Order: sequence, then C-alpha cells, then structure tokens
Amino acid sequence: MGVPIGTGVTSILEPASRPTREIRDLSILVVAICAAIFVVVQSFLVVAIVRGVRADRVAKASSQPVGEPVQVYGSLPIEVAWTVIPIIIVFVLTMVTIRTIREIDLTQPPPGAMAVTAIGHQWWWEFRYAAADGATVITANELHIPAGRPIWLRLESADVIHSFWVPRLSGKLDVIPAKTNELWIEADSPGLFLGQCAEYCGTQHAHMLIRVYAEPQPVFDAWLAAQASPPIASPVVAEGRSTFTEYACMNCHTIGGTSAGMFGPNLSHLASRDTIGSGYIPLTRANLKQWINDPNSLKPGCNMPSLQLEEAQVDGLVEYLMTLK
Ligand code: CUA
Repeated sequence: MGVPIGTGVTSILEPASRPTREIRDLSILVVAICAAIFVVVQSFLVVAIVRGVRADRVAKASSQPVGEPVQVYGSLPIEVAWTVIPIIIVFVLTMVTIRTIREIDLTQPPPGAMAVTAIGHQWWWEFRYAAADGATVITANELHIPAGRPIWLRLESADVIHSFWVPRLSGKLDVIPAKTNELWIEADSPGLFLGQCAEYCGTQHAHMLIRVYAEPQPVFDAWLAAQASPPIASPVVAEGRSTFTEYACMNCHTIGGTSAGMFGPNLSHLASRDTIGSGYIPLTRANLKQWINDPNSLKPGCNMPSLQLEEAQVDGLVEYLMTLK
C-alpha cells in the first residue's frame, strides 16, 4: 500500500474559521492567565528559598542559632488579597468562557447555513446532503463544503459513541446513538482540512479519519450535481459489475442504480474520492485490490469481510469501481 495520508496541519493554534478562532483566543487567554499565576507563585517561592538559604549561611558563619522568620497571624490585608484576587480571576475566566460558548455553541443554524448530516459508523463517516431536486446525496469520509459559508452539521450515530473533530474548522462534539447533536463548522477559504474521530469507538478508532474539502461555491455546486447524478455504467466493466451484484458486496454497499446496501459506505461515486478506509488509504488500483482481497490486512478488525474471490474477479471489481466517478 502507499503512504497513509493522515498527514497535514490539525493544530487548534491554526484556526481556519470563526468558531476555531474564538476557541484559540480563549485558550491563549486562559493559558496566559495561568502562566502569570504560575510565575507570581514561583517567584515568591524562589525568593523565600534564596532568603532562607542566605539567612542559614549568615547564622552558621556567626555560629548563631538559625532564628524563626517573622510569624504573621490574622493579617486582614493579606487575607482579603488572597481571597479577592482569586475570585476576580475565576470570575473573569468564567465570563469569557460563557461568552465564547454562547457565540459558537449555537442552538439555531447561523444565517445562510447549509445543512449536512454526518453519521458515525464503526469505523467510517457517512455524509448526507440535500441535492437541488430534493434528492439525497450520500457519500463517505470525504466531506465537501462550500468555503466561506456556515455548515450546520447534524451528527448521528449508527452504532456507538463517536466524536466529530476537525480542529481547524470547529470544536469537538460527540456523536451519540439515538440523539442528534448539531455543530457549526465553517472554512474561511478553500482547502483540505483533516480531522479524526475523537472518542474511542473500537479497534479502528484511530483510523476513523475525516477529510473536509472546502471549495468555492461553484466548484462545490458542480461536485454536488455530479454526486446527485447516477454513476455511468460502462459496458467494458460489465463483468466487474456482475461480480459486485452476484457476491455479498451489494448487501452492504449502495451503488446508484445497482444496489441498495446501507451497512457499508455508499460507493456510487467511489472513484471521485482520494481515499478509502475512512481517509486512511490512498485510492489507487493496487490499494483497492488489496482492500477487496483482504480488508483486515489494511485495517485489522474492520467489518468488511474478505470474500475469497478469484484474482480475475477482484481485478474486474477494481476496474468496475474505478469507473464510478
Ligand atoms: Cu469513531 Cu472513534
């Protein structure tokens, strides 16, 4: 197989949207206040140690017993200071945190938002869009969005608890069975943004990756229209197509006009994607062949079985799947 393509910037310190900028700014403020407290406390400690060591040395040099430092009891100014200052600090941190949460953890979609449903599965992501004619477009693992427009993501789970997290585009939100959570994500400008399931959900949790492709609106519209159209069935790959329908593939995978399985990722436009295996494996003929032959060799524990097909059948399947643009 080729190199896993899970690389790229996923730092919360490089935000690419309004929600993540607010999270970054709040994080820096909290760290700065805590760092200032740390420096003040450590300074007092260092001064006390230095003075204590010096007093000890002076006492030893003059053969005098080491005296106790001045003992202070019931000093009102000190008591007031170490009560009031922490209260003010906690109050400030609480207020800025509440303000940030109110601004980014919305209960209603932001104006102009586009709705997309994301469904977590063991171990991949399903994305559902409403196409122009009211039809539903279903794809997997690679989320295309228009840049500069808020996306209202409805998060659902098909099995266990997952967590949706693309660190440069939004905060992290759990994906819970029998509950719909809603998350505002957004990309200021076009680009590829990587993410990751952020809640342990079983063997392949670490490879439950997310790829978000933010595109200019016209490019996105063209992509959505292409996904909404039926896949083109070339007569050249009829053999691979019949292997797909004669074996168990069709029970789990949907290909528009061919099958309607819902357990595994929708493959209607598989060849338009860059990756397979939930963003973990580059989509090439060789990788797809190995994946069909023995999925567990690439992602141990994954739910796709090896069907023990003949090599010619696998080659035919690969040819067929690679035509599904
Ligand atoms: Cu899904 Cu971890």
